[in-house]
Amino acid sequence: MLWLILTFHVLGASIWTGGHLVLATTVLPRALTAGDPGILLRFEQGFERIGIPALVVQVATGLWLASQVSDPGRWLSFADPVSAAVGVKLCLLAATALFAANARFRVIPTLSAESLPLMGWHIRAVTLFSVVFVMAGVWIRTGGF
Ligand code: HEM
Repeated sequence: MLWLILTFHVLGASIWTGGHLVLATTVLPRALTAGDPGILLRFEQGFERIGIPALVVQVATGLWLASQVSDPGRWLSFADPVSAAVGVKLCLLAATALFAANARFRVIPTLSAESLPLMGWHIRAVTLFSVVFVMAGVWIRTGGF
């Protein structure tokens, strides 16, 4: 069972983090240089179809994995290295949700060449969170640095 859940978790991580790295390092610079929000929106429409299900899979499999390695009552205690890594993941999830909601409901509806740089900072932040998600996951198995 663990191998199957972990396979879905790592597959979801490949999609979520990989997609954001492609977005932040190739699509976003192209959109900023051209001053064309359409370049971003076209990528996001395609990516959303696989990216959002991947994030849902991450949360569901992640909560199950977390319950295997640490007692739920300790997840936000930061009392030991494993609970701390789970706590970091939960904080990253909250931060990702805040940035995604702000982008979706406040920035994207009026996205223009002028507001592209603001959208760019949202994308860079969520990409950074996605990389730290991977690092915190690896810390759990390896015990940190
Ligand atoms: C986009 C979000 C996420 C990404 C990219 C991600 C990525 C990863 C990666 C790469 C691993 C390493 C797997 C390994 O060592 O074999 C991992 C492990 C883990 N993740 Fe996540 N994760 C995400 C979300 C979550 C969430 C929301 C939770 C729940 C708190 C979570 C809990 C865990 C746990 C407990 C492990 C350790 C599994 C083990 O070693 O047995 N993850 N994650």
